Amino acid sequence: MALKGFKLLLGLLALLPSAIGLAFPGAEGFGAQATGGRGGDVYVVTNLNDSGTGSLRDAVSKSHRIVVFAVGGLITIDDRLVVSHDVTILGQTAPGQGITVYGNGVSYSNADNTITRYIRFRMGKTGDSGKDGITIAEGANMIFDHVSVSWGRDETFSINGDVSNVTISDSIIAQGLEPHSCGGLMQADGGISIFRTLYIDNKTRNAKTKGKNSFTNNVVYNWGAGGGYIAGDSDGQSYANIVGNVFISGPSTSAHPFTRGNANFHAYVSDNYYDPDQDGTLNGWVLAESTDNYSDVDFQASPYDYPAVNNLLKSGSDVFDYIKANAGASKSRDHVDDYLINTELASLGKTGALISDPTASPINGPGPIDGGKALTDTDGDGIPDEYESQLGTSSTVSDSATIASNGYANIENYANLLI
Ligand SMILES: *[C@@H]1O[C@H](CO)[C@@H](O)[C@H](O)[C@H]1NC(C)=O
Ligand SMILES: *[C@@H]1O[C@H](CO)[C@@H](O)[C@H](O)[C@H]1NC(C)=O
Ligand SMILES: *[C@@H]1O[C@H](CO)[C@@H](O)[C@H](O)[C@H]1NC(C)=O
Ligand SMILES: *[C@@H]1O[C@H](CO)[C@@H](O)[C@H](O)[C@H]1NC(C)=O
Repeated sequence: MALKGFKLLLGLLALLPSAIGLAFPGAEGFGAQATGGRGGDVYVVTNLNDSGTGSLRDAVSKSHRIVVFAVGGLITIDDRLVVSHDVTILGQTAPGQGITVYGNGVSYSNADNTITRYIRFRMGKTGDSGKDGITIAEGANMIFDHVSVSWGRDETFSINGDVSNVTISDSIIAQGLEPHSCGGLMQADGGISIFRTLYIDNKTRNAKTKGKNSFTNNVVYNWGAGGGYIAGDSDGQSYANIVGNVFISGPSTSAHPFTRGNANFHAYVSDNYYDPDQDGTLNGWVLAESTDNYSDVDFQASPYDYPAVNNLLKSGSDVFDYIKANAGASKSRDHVDDYLINTELASLGKTGALISDPTASPINGPGPIDGGKALTDTDGDGIPDEYESQLGTSSTVSDSATIASNGYANIENYANLLI
């Protein structure tokens, strides 16, 4: 009897989303436990319109949805996109080169419990003045993974306020526009993890952090005069782990990788590489712990007990190679990320620029994006027929929202097969 009861319990646990605990297999950091729209409906985006039935704006306007794409291409938006709470956006389901949202920024303020993967948000100079590429002013439990965000008019990816449990992993934060030209604020007492992400071509705030921050295995390339990692500069208390990052100077770089900081900034620092010579090879050194190297931070002997990466990349070249291959919406990179990675970053100091107009050469705007062609999906539930058989789901009955025995929705299991 006891064994039977135990087996029954295990069976039930396997069916509950809480049994898996992770936003997706391999999710890490403070935001790893977001469940997004799991348990709700699946919304298939079927056009590239700014609004209306079948658009991304309509899709994210309501909670408890997992959003997938039967189209690829450029979604040009006039007003800012506002994402609701309990939403999952799975950009890897889009055919072709995937989805780029262009023309304004995105608000995740109060978008509690969201999962966002494999999508590009490129704001641009037509976006609202004084606004960010991605903004979170309030909220908890969000994970952004393989997201490319660029061309913010104020900050590019900015978190500032009563915010908890956010992860930004395997992403690209690029080319903050003049006159602000910022990577972004990462200011929250409730925990922000930034893992394996590329900050590139931002004059300053790569990032500017305050509060609880875990910054691991990132590359910062071609920061400008404002500084690379800015260790707060104000009254609030900060507690940071800054481990295994690589700072590579470029043509725009004139400041040290770590700036500001005061006795309120408590940090465990370890294995941070600095390659300042712009000589086209990855070299340089590990910064020794000293206030000259890290500004006036209060050094800690051991790391804070924050959720860590599963596999810490130990050498600067491992971090560089990983980010070069994987950062951003890397299932199919657009020409912008391709240029940033393979022309600028790969030059190791020789090429890079701070820009004010992303429609000018060499970037020439966000498109074109190859839209590809969606696979046949007879029941329209977001899972193409050929994957339905692989997953053991029905191609004639809409069952993509159903929770599978591993705890993920069928549509999530499909999306996880694509990457
Ligand atoms: C998308 O926009 C086009 C052009 O404005 C319009 O013709 C079409 O009806 C829209 N689609 C939907 C589903 O609203
Ligand atoms: C953040 O995550 C921790 C650990 O899972 C949890 O205890 C806490 O309640 C979360 N905070 C919020 C505001 O959800
Ligand atoms: C900064 O780090 C470098 C490389 O480890 C080291 O040579 C240098 O002495 C450090 N600066 C100070 C002031 O300690
Ligand atoms: C980053 O800032 C600079 C300076 O504002 C600006 O010229 C450029 O447009 C922005 N992008 C970069 C890379 O700086």
